[in-house]
Amino acid sequence: MTPDISVTFTGLKFTNPFLLSSAPPTESDTNIMRAFDAGWGGVVTKTIGMHPVTNVAGPKTKFLRTTLDGRLSMQKRPDTALHSSWNWELISDKPLDWWAPKIAGIKKAYPDRMLVASIMAGSGSDKELEHWQTLAKACQDEGADAFELNLSCPHMDRKDMGSNIGKDQEQVSIVTEVVKAVARVPVWCKLTPSTTDIVEEASAAFRGGADAIVSSNTFPSLPLIDPETLDFEMNVDGLVSSGGLGGPAILPQSLAKMSQLTQAFPDKAFSGIGGISEFAHALNYMLLGCGTVQVCTAAMLDRAIGPTVIKNLIEGMQQFMEKRGYASLEDFRGLRRGNVVVHSKIRRPDGKEYHGGHDAEGYATDQTGRH
Ligand SMILES: Cc1cc2nc3c(=O)[nH]c(=O)nc-3n(C[C@H](O)[C@H](O)[C@H](O)COP(=O)(O)O)c2cc1C
Repeated sequence: MTPDISVTFTGLKFTNPFLLSSAPPTESDTNIMRAFDAGWGGVVTKTIGMHPVTNVAGPKTKFLRTTLDGRLSMQKRPDTALHSSWNWELISDKPLDWWAPKIAGIKKAYPDRMLVASIMAGSGSDKELEHWQTLAKACQDEGADAFELNLSCPHMDRKDMGSNIGKDQEQVSIVTEVVKAVARVPVWCKLTPSTTDIVEEASAAFRGGADAIVSSNTFPSLPLIDPETLDFEMNVDGLVSSGGLGGPAILPQSLAKMSQLTQAFPDKAFSGIGGISEFAHALNYMLLGCGTVQVCTAAMLDRAIGPTVIKNLIEGMQQFMEKRGYASLEDFRGLRRGNVVVHSKIRRPDGKEYHGGHDAEGYATDQTGRH
């Protein structure tokens, strides 16, 4: 019998725990419906806002690839492996009026698939806070199953938007509370990884009534400078601003954030994002305690919505559960949460077995020839 990979997350039933995250794969109704046809259990829309959006001139996203000898570049070259995505794309450039009927249409066509509306407004005035409620009411009236509050977009100059809200515990609480006041569906908060202690911001979100925390958005970063031209590999008129790193490079960093979160709140709901392209990656987040996971970069590079990625994620999870005799995700969710401890709790070797720790790749041998 095929194992049951469906999950219930914040009270919603997902046919599988794999979602497309808020990003280009989910920027239109046609993409989202293609994604559901391909098998994704849920989709988070590209973030919807109230202000007009104009993106930078030129490309919004590029991909960093490395050769075997370690040359890292955005230039397309043979025999390279993906390192990361780099983007400075803003939220959806389509207005709420465009999105509202699309949400209704998608839900009508796919009533059993979960459609999460990612929304974003400011927090600097009552009017801005009302925008959150306008967005929330419109999306839920059209049938959105949940909200993901974008408290993490790294490209906002405004001090009261995106990751700038996510860095301010009070604002995180206020915005969550404002949306909760009108929400009839679960409210997830997508936090920025770019703070000292993400547990603090998660705590603020839960105080505001959040039903789940989502992490990570992209990490702040710059494109590399081309050694020949001395230009940033991505620039407009020679200029660049801090953008977001996603893909394989951020998997370990994002796991570290998630581990902090699930340890601090073992009974709360978490959706993990960052560097997932196959089930082994997703499993990391699940073993730390996540109930769903989300994918962006890998899906962008697989026919824009990830048909092969989702097929492999589903098959990978089924095979894993079958092999281990697990009946549901609950049988293994959080199994390794407790294995991340403070450094002083890691065992040290006894006296003569101690070689100064020089017994691994990257260290010189000592005078005895030993590592
Ligand atoms: C081009 C691009 C656009 C994105 N736009 C959004 C967005 O509108 N809202 C949002 O919450 N996250 C956005 N993200 C972040 C992704 O949803 C995701 O959190 C991040 O890319 C890490 O996942 P990955 O390693 O699978 O790419 C975007 C990412 C990329 C690459």
